[in-house]
Amino acid sequence: MASQRRRHHHCHKRFRLMAPVISGIAAALLVLFSLLSILAPSPNDTVYLHSHSSSSGGKSDRHVWSSKNAEHFHGCSDANNKFLKAEAITKPNRYLGIATSGGLNQQRTGITDAVVAARILNATLVIPKLDQKSFWKDSSNFSEIFDVDWFISYLSKDVKIIKQLPRKGGKTLSAYSMRVPRKCNERCYINRILPVLMKKHAVQLNKFDYRLANRLDTEYQKLRCRVNYHALRFTNPILAMGKKLVRRMRMNSKHYIALHLRFEPDMLAFSGCDYGGGEKEQKELGAIRRRWKTLHRSNPDKARRQGKCPLTPEEVGLMLRALGYGSDVHIYVASGEVYGGEETLAPLKAFFPNFHSKDTIATKEELEPFSKFSSRMAALDFIVCDESDVFVTNNNGNMAKILAGRRKYFGHKPTIRPNAKKLYRLFLSRSNLTWEVFASNVRTFQRGFMGEPKEVRPGRSGFHENPSTCICEDSVAKVERSPLRRKYGKDIATKKNVTNDGPDVDDESEWPDMDDDDDLSDEKDMSNETILDYDTLNFEDTELEEFLSD
Ligand SMILES: *[C@@H]1O[C@H](CO)[C@@H](O)[C@H](O)[C@H]1NC(C)=O
Ligand SMILES: *[C@@H]1O[C@H](CO)[C@@H](O)[C@H](O)[C@H]1NC(C)=O
Ligand SMILES: *[C@@H]1O[C@H](CO)[C@@H](O)[C@H](O)[C@H]1NC(C)=O
Ligand SMILES: *[C@@H]1O[C@H](CO)[C@@H](O)[C@H](O)[C@H]1NC(C)=O
Ligand SMILES: *[C@@H]1O[C@H](CO)[C@@H](O)[C@H](O)[C@H]1NC(C)=O
Repeated sequence: MASQRRRHHHCHKRFRLMAPVISGIAAALLVLFSLLSILAPSPNDTVYLHSHSSSSGGKSDRHVWSSKNAEHFHGCSDANNKFLKAEAITKPNRYLGIATSGGLNQQRTGITDAVVAARILNATLVIPKLDQKSFWKDSSNFSEIFDVDWFISYLSKDVKIIKQLPRKGGKTLSAYSMRVPRKCNERCYINRILPVLMKKHAVQLNKFDYRLANRLDTEYQKLRCRVNYHALRFTNPILAMGKKLVRRMRMNSKHYIALHLRFEPDMLAFSGCDYGGGEKEQKELGAIRRRWKTLHRSNPDKARRQGKCPLTPEEVGLMLRALGYGSDVHIYVASGEVYGGEETLAPLKAFFPNFHSKDTIATKEELEPFSKFSSRMAALDFIVCDESDVFVTNNNGNMAKILAGRRKYFGHKPTIRPNAKKLYRLFLSRSNLTWEVFASNVRTFQRGFMGEPKEVRPGRSGFHENPSTCICEDSVAKVERSPLRRKYGKDIATKKNVTNDGPDVDDESEWPDMDDDDDLSDEKDMSNETILDYDTLNFEDTELEEFLSD
């Protein structure tokens, strides 16, 4: 581990030494590039033309299968050498436990944050308890999903972690149960938890999801990344099966897209959107809405349309086509129950006949050890989506967020998140537009939503989605771009005149934020924010909350 952590520093040093030479070359290249880019057709057009010729080889690959400038960015989560070792700070008789909540990915955020919470409190962390009772009903414990020994040893310098509470005088210490407010910051932990911990010696924080502030000290943020991106590793059986699935996708073709599609009836009912199914749909979703008491009371059917609705499978297909992915592309779809079933999926399959899922590329027998456990199944999808060349979602749930952050950290592999607000209107007017105009508008609206470096400003979005503290830029990239940079995060816009053939959009990622200020209250005032960001809502119906917390 240590060598892995050190590697980045070496790179940095080397770049610093070479910077003067490189900047000279860079400047020359830059002039050349700007000349070329004036003469050449826009990259987007190239992509589009290539998609028509329907070949997955050739020049267009560069554009659709990788992000611009990605090679200049890398994950960096090493601790500063002033960061004290766990032995130096861990106080005896301070044990912190947590019980996670929600689906696998929401639980992952809780585990990550729990390590940092223990560090803040100078406490020993007890291996987190997984949520076995939520909507997702999975009886797996931590060590059946994650490699527990790896977790403990990887973090041994940061936090002392034990498998269970120690025994004292013949019996196991029992933990005092309590909750901590959402987005609690360092001071909040010290004020609210530390006194209880000192008194009771063992505390278990329940329903531990999003209980740690977004903004923290750099060192705590880096620790979060060490946990999330290095220490949390699935168990060997899960990893092996996940890799097998990935290999099978790659046997089909060099590149593949993974789509995380959430289109379950309950979720659609919750969204209050119209998915074009007419009266039948209204009736069916209305019936589901009435089953959820809270929904019936507080979520009016309409009023939520613009930008607040997950894309339908057909819309996802249209978007991908417009972005230049041809019909020969292989697509892996991770989804639960799809409202309308095959009928709903048919248009997407027509766009992408090479349509795969766990069930089509693995046998029942192979999946048997996983299929009764929703979290293990979710973990397999997580792996295939993580490894994909291009990851696409139609929703803004926990899996979408975690993978978006993870893919930034590990090299900015393209991660397409629909700019639903803009696309919604475009889909409505599609029948009036030629394909060229439609596609060009999609490409314009999706700028800033493709998972490229610096699309989202540091501090915006939740930390798990935008781990900016843990993403470092090499000096070459800085030198190369600085003269053209107009505004932070808008560096790519310097090529605007070349690529832009649609309306000028200067807005950045419009995925609604988990709000930036680390207030201690549960967020309530999100009623006019997009409904898709369901984990910021204050639910009364816990079952519904769990369902939505994937
Ligand atoms: C944790 O330990 C460090 C180093 O001994 C100390 O500075 C800090 O105040 C301690 N914090 C708590 C919450 O005990
Ligand atoms: C987790 O589950 C496995 C299998 O059921 C069991 O052997 C193990 O003791 C459990 N671990 C904990 C910490 O409960
Ligand atoms: C299409 O254009 C016509 C005429 O401009 C307009 O009346 C109609 O509302 C448009 N339809 C859509 C779906 O935008
Ligand atoms: C874009 O083009 C317009 C005119 O076509 C020009 O006035 C403007 O300066 C150009 N902008 C950039 C950033 O090159
Ligand atoms: C939300 O609604 C409030 C009051 O209705 C309004 O002042 C605010 O601008 C709205 N915010 C957004 C992002 O639409």
